[in-house]
Amino acid sequence: MKEGEASFTARFPAILRAAHQVLDGNPKILDDPLSIGFVEGAEESEIQTNLERYQSPPLVQARAWFAMRHRFAEDSLAQAMANGTRQYVVLGAGLDTFAYRPSQASSALHIFEVDYPATQVWKKERLAALQIAIPKHVSYVPVDFERQSLAQGLAQSDFDFSSPAFFSWLGVTMYLERDAVFNTLKTILSMPLSSQVAFDFELDEAALQGQVKRSIAKASASAARRGEPWKSRFKASDLQKTLLDMGFREVTYFNASQAEERYFSGRKDGLSLNGAGHMILARV
Ligand SMILES: C[S@@+](CC[C@H](N)C(=O)[O-])C[C@H]1O[C@@H](n2cnc3c(N)ncnc32)[C@H](O)[C@@H]1O
Repeated sequence: MKEGEASFTARFPAILRAAHQVLDGNPKILDDPLSIGFVEGAEESEIQTNLERYQSPPLVQARAWFAMRHRFAEDSLAQAMANGTRQYVVLGAGLDTFAYRPSQASSALHIFEVDYPATQVWKKERLAALQIAIPKHVSYVPVDFERQSLAQGLAQSDFDFSSPAFFSWLGVTMYLERDAVFNTLKTILSMPLSSQVAFDFELDEAALQGQVKRSIAKASASAARRGEPWKSRFKASDLQKTLLDMGFREVTYFNASQAEERYFSGRKDGLSLNGAGHMILARV
């Protein structure tokens, strides 16, 4: 990532979430009509014009994954809200639309979007161009996870460290050095009991095989070409153990086959994760 520039890799999942709305059947894995046109390239006409590309197996699989990881985080957030959580921290928010979708859930929360300052400036410009006002209950928290602690960033905002919070961290850990990943998790661990974090991670190359290994290698090479190389990957069992050793009370590993069963079974549009995608839900 170039100093002072907005993240390029934030665009791709945003465009594919829009393609999910436009091209896939109902019910959607993630209901996100606001994603259509949210960023340049995510317009319905643009997606329909490039149908061959968007209906190619790698992009169908990628959009299934981008939609699913948000759905998993938002379903987990809904459960946390049912138990009283009222703060939602979106780490590496990119062009996440949750805070701007009119819903009871988003208005009942104080939402903190944490990201590189330059990515936030770009997002605000997009919101202004779309005439979407930033709701009063949404705070922007500029943080570079490699240079600054999440705690320092949140301390500059009106975040309440004495109340539980739900954190999502989607499509970010692979772009950070391991130290930055664990330092951020330590901040989350210092939050009140019942705070939670949902995040995805990339598996160690050695744990991959066949078609999944080839498609992950392509995704990693493409990120590197864009100047945002992947820096950390994990073995699922090691990561779970490390989180428990750090002090998280409950650590759930949610893999692609569990996600397939929970969210994709019975679909008639062929949308599938095809074995890719790994998430953790950890509770303080
Ligand atoms: C692939 S995008 C994912 C965006 C969004 N969470 C989504 O799923 O659509 C990665 C996000 O992580 C942010 N990011 C990457 N490295 C970062 C760092 N060192 N500090 C803060 N944000 C970072 C980028 O700005 C970008 O918004």
